[in-house]
Amino acid sequence: MHTKEYSLSMIKSALHLSCFCILVCCGTVLNPVFALENCEFPAIFNFGDSNSDTGGLAAAFNWTPPPYGETFFHRPAGRFSDGRLIIDFIARSFDIPFLSAYLNSLGSNFKKGANFATAASTITPPRFIIPVGGFSPFYLDVQYWQFTQFKYRSQSIKKIGGIYKDLMPNKEYFGKALYTFDIGQNDLGQGFFGNMSVDEVNASVPNMVNSFSKNIKNIYKLGARSFWIHNTGPIGCLPYILANFPLTEAQMDSAGCARPYNEVAQYFNYKLKEAIVQLRKDLPLAAITYVDVYSVKYSLFAEPKKYGFELPLVACCGLGGRYNYGSAECGGSIIVNGSHIIVGSCEDPSVRVNWDGVHYTEAASKFIFDKISTGAYSDPAIPLRMACHKKLD
Ligand SMILES: *[C@@H]1O[C@H](CO)[C@@H](O)[C@H](O)[C@H]1NC(C)=O
Ligand SMILES: *[C@@H]1O[C@H](CO)[C@@H](O)[C@H](O)[C@H]1NC(C)=O
Ligand SMILES: *[C@@H]1O[C@H](CO)[C@@H](O)[C@H](O)[C@H]1NC(C)=O
Repeated sequence: MHTKEYSLSMIKSALHLSCFCILVCCGTVLNPVFALENCEFPAIFNFGDSNSDTGGLAAAFNWTPPPYGETFFHRPAGRFSDGRLIIDFIARSFDIPFLSAYLNSLGSNFKKGANFATAASTITPPRFIIPVGGFSPFYLDVQYWQFTQFKYRSQSIKKIGGIYKDLMPNKEYFGKALYTFDIGQNDLGQGFFGNMSVDEVNASVPNMVNSFSKNIKNIYKLGARSFWIHNTGPIGCLPYILANFPLTEAQMDSAGCARPYNEVAQYFNYKLKEAIVQLRKDLPLAAITYVDVYSVKYSLFAEPKKYGFELPLVACCGLGGRYNYGSAECGGSIIVNGSHIIVGSCEDPSVRVNWDGVHYTEAASKFIFDKISTGAYSDPAIPLRMACHKKLD
């Protein structure tokens, strides 16, 4: 009797122990991120192109017309989308307001960060600047110069006090902030549209990546420690490539994307990842997370239905041909059969991937954010909210 009870409780505690063991072991071995704490990022500083421009190019040049911004902001909001961008979802996930563009002199609040990205920005110096060509003068070196100014001038302006105190970040935010990057697509585009062959653009990738590394080092020298770096997306799945560079069937992949153009993007990402390995050695105090946005974006082209999307290769807002792109721009006007037509949005942008032939819809950006924020596409596999950590343990 006694022995039986004894053995029963032994079995119970053994069971208990093994349950406990499974929990603990899974918690630490299979899910090591649970050992890490969430980071407290008081601010975000962003660098990049239209993938993360929250109003920079619009402030400097001219505003995107309606229907840009219609889905979320219900007006053009300086973003090249129908609504929010990945950077907006990133900011909101930390309870940080949408980032003001550094270049925007009207109504900006830089207390919790600033956005140096402008649409059409390159890493390397642009060869054809707006209005002569299509690229932004604010390439990555310039964005770094602007950040340098911002870091010092914001503190002297803060000292004026009053309203300025509340519009500028605290000094210590610069070391604690999250630094986000999404740039490279236009360096490839500049090559392709500048009459370079695919091989020539490919051969210039190491130069682009070297320039990128140089800027990361410079920003680190100013005190940045947490870096969240997106790789470049599948440019060969975008209407502006597909409509401008006709391909043979053999050059299309099963998703209908332009394989040679995507291969250059993949090579860029390979070199970027390699450069980040080196940066981790050169910048010992930095936590640098490489984020494979390419794979998430590509899944929208490869399996749109699975994720609730349709017609991923066709611009929602555009006009012309198979990709609804090329005859007139989104929001532009065109004369068809003698009457003016404003190029408007498709019926339901919430099920569409591509907004205007170059940029993603809000729905796609939300999908991408949901995937990348978990850490499943990060190297190391660190979720966004833990991106101040260098390693999983
Ligand atoms: C590319 O080549 C075409 C045809 O030769 C020419 O019209 C165009 O200006 C060139 N573009 C650039 C950016 O060099
Ligand atoms: C790009 O260059 C690399 C290195 O030379 C090479 O391995 C790769 O196949 C090239 N890709 C394309 C698309 O030319
Ligand atoms: C313009 O006119 C042609 C010929 O009548 C017609 O086939 C076409 O559908 C018209 N286009 C539009 C947008 O109404």
